[in-house]
Amino acid sequence: MFAEYAPFTTKYFYHILVIVVSFILFKKFFERPSAEETAQSGTYAFTASDESTDPSESNVAADNSTSQMDKTSCEVEPALSRDLKHIPYHYVRKSEKELLAHASEFYRIVAARRTLRFFSTDPVPREVIREIIRAAGTAPSGAHTEPWTFVAISNPTTKLKIRKIVEQEEEINYKKRMGIKWTTDLSPLRTNWIKEYLTTVPYLILVFKQTYSTLPNGQKKIHYYHEMSVSIACGILITAIQYAGLVTLTSTPMNCGPAIRSLLGRPANEKLVLLLPVGYPAKDATIPDLQRKDLSEILVEID
Ligand SMILES: Cc1cc2nc3c(=O)[nH]c(=O)nc-3n(C[C@H](O)[C@H](O)[C@H](O)COP(=O)(O)O)c2cc1C
Repeated sequence: MFAEYAPFTTKYFYHILVIVVSFILFKKFFERPSAEETAQSGTYAFTASDESTDPSESNVAADNSTSQMDKTSCEVEPALSRDLKHIPYHYVRKSEKELLAHASEFYRIVAARRTLRFFSTDPVPREVIREIIRAAGTAPSGAHTEPWTFVAISNPTTKLKIRKIVEQEEEINYKKRMGIKWTTDLSPLRTNWIKEYLTTVPYLILVFKQTYSTLPNGQKKIHYYHEMSVSIACGILITAIQYAGLVTLTSTPMNCGPAIRSLLGRPANEKLVLLLPVGYPAKDATIPDLQRKDLSEILVEID
């Protein structure tokens, strides 16, 4: 059988050899290691879990390899204190009955949350806003980097400037950028580019994610999973607003980030994630009659 192909093999022996060697070299140098190999090599433990979209991740491997090279000239220091104390955790265990009562009570509170688009002008005490943001700041974060900044705005002029930026961009979003599918999907919610609530509401809370920061020694501090960390903080923020007895609108004004960041004098490492008007609902406020998925549609139990 081999003899049949022997003349071909002999004639093209060097071509075949070059192809085989190139293939082996390509595999060796260009193929990504599996998550397991990466985790085992210890170069970047965080990557083992998923293909995250967190932009900080793409820099991590590079930064790590640079750090490894730098190790000879200067010792790598952790961002947190090397002498960080570990202290006892105080915990009061609840009975199973209490656990269920608390879980059900919490569900009742969050199930009542709705996105409001019509707000009252009634003022909200500053201290309430501060406590809500304090709660958001308790969120877990990758390597405890706490990559968030919350800007609370009650100043009418600043609110008006934000409204102008948002309405200008949203008009283009609705008319050009979003396209027919997106605007059609949104139409039952009756949203458009007019955002009156941005000036009627007593407070605007703007959430910025810090994509990185700078350590006291001037080195860049990597904010691992900043996107996910800030998203968790936003979830707590929205829940805290609800628990306090106020209402909000989760909004992500497209293309407004740079202009708002510059208006508020926020640094270049901060990116706008959410804009939340916070206050009381208007007396005649309406909401779309949305239904939520049943537990059986969102839960998979494996016992
Ligand atoms: C990430 C995110 C972005 C959103 N962006 C907007 C927005 O820009 N404008 C808006 O009116 N609503 C926005 N919403 C609100 C949703 O439309 C709303 O949460 C959804 O319709 C469900 O209604 P509910 O919040 O009352 O349960 C956003 C919600 C999320 C989670």
